[in-house]
Amino acid sequence: MAITHPSFGTLDDNRIIFFDTTLRDGEQSPGFSMNLEEKLRMAEALSELGVDVIEAGFAIASPGDFESVQSIARKFAKDGPVVASLGRANPADILRSAEALKPAARKRIHIVLATSELHMRVKLRMSPEEVLDLTTSSVTLGRQHAEDVEWSAEDGSRSDPDFLCRCVEAAIKAGATTINIPDTVGYSMPEDMARIFRDLRNRVPGIEKVILSAHNHNDLGMAVANTVAAIQAGVRQIESTINGIGERAGNASLEEVAMALRTRRDALPYTNSIVHQKLLKTSKLLATITGFDVQPNKAIVGRNAFAHESGIHQDGVLKDASTYEIMTPESVGWTTNSLVLGKHSGRAAFRDKLATLGYTVGDNQLNDAFRRFKDLADRKKVVYDEDVVALVDDEVVRG
Ligand code: KIV
Ligand code: ZN
Repeated sequence: MAITHPSFGTLDDNRIIFFDTTLRDGEQSPGFSMNLEEKLRMAEALSELGVDVIEAGFAIASPGDFESVQSIARKFAKDGPVVASLGRANPADILRSAEALKPAARKRIHIVLATSELHMRVKLRMSPEEVLDLTTSSVTLGRQHAEDVEWSAEDGSRSDPDFLCRCVEAAIKAGATTINIPDTVGYSMPEDMARIFRDLRNRVPGIEKVILSAHNHNDLGMAVANTVAAIQAGVRQIESTINGIGERAGNASLEEVAMALRTRRDALPYTNSIVHQKLLKTSKLLATITGFDVQPNKAIVGRNAFAHESGIHQDGVLKDASTYEIMTPESVGWTTNSLVLGKHSGRAAFRDKLATLGYTVGDNQLNDAFRRFKDLADRKKVVYDEDVVALVDDEVVRG
């Protein structure tokens, strides 16, 4: 059934909202803090990428965070993504978020309150009944300052299911328009995620009127799998970050979720607004700003994501790239794939490389050069173009 939401109007049942928290949870990665100008550049890139909601910061955290949220709110004063600010469930946080968000055309106050027995007892030192009351009063206050209020059950995935249902019901009654269940410590497995959201959808009155959201951390490397499972269980907002940055092991990576949705439309028949051709550009901008490259084997945006080294794979890719590529490099912003020459590479890739470098070789010359190449490849990790030139230059003619 279609939902009517204050920021998005009537939403098709199969539309996935992308909530980006690179500038808030992402910035909480040690060493990844960004200055105002850098945050504004990232906000521009996120908007061009097509994200629906930008979590611009935690307005009460520091004067700098307040200024960032306010400046991003000003940037999107006429149109653009919804701008969100996070705060805890207390009046000071909520009012600070409201103040910073004022200039935005579409604003969201995001309120977080822990619901697990452990967090309530050790961290909040509150009883479950107090947490329930605070849920109601904080969301009520949030709604006095914004039509769009997201309520997050911190450590929701480790919370007692009955208590979680009661809290979610209280948040909806008080006016929350998005209900987010974070896997704050990245403990869940995909089946847990699916169970949590199915349970809420089956048991909480009024749940059909709000957008359900998943926010998964990557401590066990399952943030993207958990996000996909949540979507399949009825979640329509996913929270993620560029390059998967975030607290500890990070958050679900936006580029991976977006390309899972695009590549596996058979299993995930949902629409979204991400301009996937801009994924690499956005990833690179974040890496440049933060000074942290993604690891070479990172899906979608890592240097090796479309690189092929083994002879069997290179032979297949030269015949038809779909033998070893499930999406095209161009679809995420790369100009091409690459055949990397190394000790596993075969004759087909070597011949292809020679042709690209402008060498025409007969079969005998190819055999000789290929033997020398294999000797070299045993000594070097990667054989670069200039190595190949050095191997063949004296013996063959550039055609
Ligand atoms: O991981 C978490 O629980 C969070 C909330 C603030 C949404 O980041
Ligand atoms: Zn988080």
